[in-house]
Amino acid sequence: MSQEQQKEYKRLLVTSALPYANGPIHLGHLAGAYLPADVYVRYQRLKKRDVVYICGTDEHGVPIAIAAEKAGVTPQQIVDKYWADHYDTFTRFGMSFDHFSRTSAPMQHRTAADFFKVIHDKGFLVERAIEQFYCEKCARFLADRFVEGECPRCHRPGARGDQCEACGSSLEQTELIHPYCKVCGGTPVLRQTRHLFLKLNEFQPLLEKWLADKGEWKENVLNYVRGWFQEGLGERAVTRDLSWGIKVPVAGYEEKVIYVWFEAPIGYISATKEWAEKKGRPEAWKEYWLQPDTKLVHFIGKDNIVFHAVIWPAMLMGHGGFVLPADIPANEFLNLQGEKLSTSRNYAVWLGDYLNKFPADPLRYYLAVNAPETRDADFIWEDFQGRNNSELADILGNFINRTLTFARKQFGGAVPERGVLDGLDEQMVRTLAEAPEKIGALLEGYELRKAAAALIDVARFANKYFNDQEPWRTARENRAKCATTIHLAIQACQTLAVLMEPILPFSAEKVWAMLGQPGSVNDQVWDGCGSRQMAAGHLLGQEQILFTKIEESQIRPEVERLRAISEALKAASAGAEVPAEKADSEAPARAAAVGAGQPAAAAGPAAQGNPSAAAAEKPRITYDEFAKVDLRVARVVKAEKVEKADKLLRLELEVGSEMRQIVAGVAKHYTPEEMTGRTIIIVANLQPAVIRGIESNGMLLAAEDGQGRMAILSPQGEIDSGAKVK
Ligand code: 2FM
Ligand code: ZN
Repeated sequence: MSQEQQKEYKRLLVTSALPYANGPIHLGHLAGAYLPADVYVRYQRLKKRDVVYICGTDEHGVPIAIAAEKAGVTPQQIVDKYWADHYDTFTRFGMSFDHFSRTSAPMQHRTAADFFKVIHDKGFLVERAIEQFYCEKCARFLADRFVEGECPRCHRPGARGDQCEACGSSLEQTELIHPYCKVCGGTPVLRQTRHLFLKLNEFQPLLEKWLADKGEWKENVLNYVRGWFQEGLGERAVTRDLSWGIKVPVAGYEEKVIYVWFEAPIGYISATKEWAEKKGRPEAWKEYWLQPDTKLVHFIGKDNIVFHAVIWPAMLMGHGGFVLPADIPANEFLNLQGEKLSTSRNYAVWLGDYLNKFPADPLRYYLAVNAPETRDADFIWEDFQGRNNSELADILGNFINRTLTFARKQFGGAVPERGVLDGLDEQMVRTLAEAPEKIGALLEGYELRKAAAALIDVARFANKYFNDQEPWRTARENRAKCATTIHLAIQACQTLAVLMEPILPFSAEKVWAMLGQPGSVNDQVWDGCGSRQMAAGHLLGQEQILFTKIEESQIRPEVERLRAISEALKAASAGAEVPAEKADSEAPARAAAVGAGQPAAAAGPAAQGNPSAAAAEKPRITYDEFAKVDLRVARVVKAEKVEKADKLLRLELEVGSEMRQIVAGVAKHYTPEEMTGRTIIIVANLQPAVIRGIESNGMLLAAEDGQGRMAILSPQGEIDSGAKVK
């Protein structure tokens, strides 16, 4: 979208894909739909455009229902936990949503049901009877991912009812070989059921016409959509046999819910309504959704393209009255240390964990300068460290600090007079004057990588200017010249503060305070920010450290953690019971994490050697090696036998505030009743694995002797679950 076209719009409505509330936020999320949107919105606010930025959690759907069943809690409890978790970590990361809602909100229930009814009443839905798997033991139809089995294409196990993640094929659940119920493991039977289907095929000509003038959209989005058109759009089921979700508002469908992907984007509308109510102007949402001069921009990851660029616009067209998306800048995926991210196997960097160790801005910068804009990008800890140290600390931070320190020492902390400019000064003035438009055009066009690089280029230029002008020399030899240099250098700091704000909001605010400026950098105006002079005599504020260098020792544990998981996964995949998994969204809740970890899940390290031998069975390890094992106290909340596995118990554990599940080989020695309520010790950072189709997220410690006896290790005395064992 060119800036000329931009001017035609009166207001912007920006959304980030609603993240599923079944696991914490990780860096893959941020790089896809969140950081790029936040940077864009912050920039638009500095441009003084009318912009509303909407997000919230996506709280329905099968993975959440399964996660709840596995954890023995209600879906509402899961989504409440993750709504709060997402809100907290996003806030700490500096996401500046105008409203962060959730799809279980009453407003969404009303809005989605009304929307569905309009589509139904207009005749865009058709009823079809289909055969679907039914689990007699669980007494229900198995929607989407409630059923798994062997993939009919690649023959790997663990293919889901709608897709095989291992080979990427879209599947009909009836195609699965040896299907089983994801909850109870039982073999389902085929039964007839009825569903409503969206007649997407009828929208194809309209959609093609609408997309014809979207030549400025990102190539990846257009290519993807063209592929769908080429195959021809078909009918899509938009109801599900599920109890968790928004009830279908059509007679005869009272027991069914609206398909989560039909309902979730309507969350953008309901969240805007909530925002308007919060503002005390309940009708204000209409300006954004019903006026054709609104620019609606959806930021998403590439796995969401079809839903936003095909199905959602068709729904909006079918309903009528709403604006259609003006742009859908989808990003590609973020890999991690050269490998695909995997949430259920903990091969991810979780935002909360990151923020407990490092500040937000270096990550924002790294994800911006290394954004997966046109192809997948890689998050490499060593590269992150390098860019923080050499670009943020050595260039940007260093320039601002040296300027302000110099001004304090040589000019009493006040802005000195600007005198006659020489050629270098003029170049500096010009660079600053041109920067907002140059970086602005990049941000307008979602070119985050180039925008971040251009920002550092301004600081690099300013650093060189400082060096070339040698103010430490002119301070003795030509004070007026020194004053001019420092005056312009301070002006560069002021310009940088504004230009930094979208990508580095926390540091920009610090620079603003360091300059002794009143108010917030957010209140500044982007246009012309490079030409705004600082008044001579203005008193500067206190210097603060902007960017701290990251030591090798800080990133080593992160690299090693990922390497250990990756190696263990490779070893496990040689014996391959772990199903492949989508890099991102619909992974099961981490809290309810799955899968039998180690096949020897129950048997602790002690049980694996020769019981009669003393400790020296394995080579000695260093303390550092031992310290990698995260041992925790856990309380068994629930225990049950694993079907057709006489050695295994499935245990639900409380580990501090987290609930998790493990599979333990203790059933020959302990009954479920004996286990329930027990306090045990677990290895909490073992990579999850799947045992007998059940995910196990950790391993309990137990000892076994030569007499075939087993004893589970428990702490002596009162201790909270979650406590560290050292
Ligand atoms: O992929 C995901 O994480 C989905 N929850 C995104 C939904 S976006 C919108 F439609 F709500
Ligand atoms: Zn079942």
